[in-house]
Amino acid sequence: MPELSGEASVGQILFNNNCASCHGDRASGTDKGPPLIHDIYNPGHHSDDAFYLAAMNGVVQHHWPYGNMPKQEQVTRDEVAKIVQYVRELQVANGITFKPHNM
Ligand code: HEC
Repeated sequence: MPELSGEASVGQILFNNNCASCHGDRASGTDKGPPLIHDIYNPGHHSDDAFYLAAMNGVVQHHWPYGNMPKQEQVTRDEVAKIVQYVRELQVANGITFKPHNM
């Protein structure tokens, strides 16, 4: 795993405090939520806006069998930006890169 950027290191702490209980250590998933280092979350399929919307509004179950994601109103937009930076760096480290969405 390459070293995280400064912003992503802050994002890692925020992720661990707010998201990892469902999305797992290093976004690898749990029995309560999907891994975000999954190809369907590449930036071409789930843009950064998908993260802001997920945190602000929650997510109705659609891709996975884990149920709905409750909104995470405790995180600010600026904090979500850092979380996104962390997840994007994890994705790149795992070979997940932009693919155009053509479904
Ligand atoms: C209580 C569990 C839980 C927590 C906490 C949680 N999530 Fe989720 N999240 C889910 C589940 C379950 C899904 C999958 C919904 C589906 O597609 O079926 C999901 C989906 C997502 C998606 C995909 C949205 C989409 O458009 O498909 C993103 C992005 C996301 N979560 C980000 C986050 C971030 C960032 C945090 C922390 C601020 C977080 N989640 C905290 C359970 C959680």
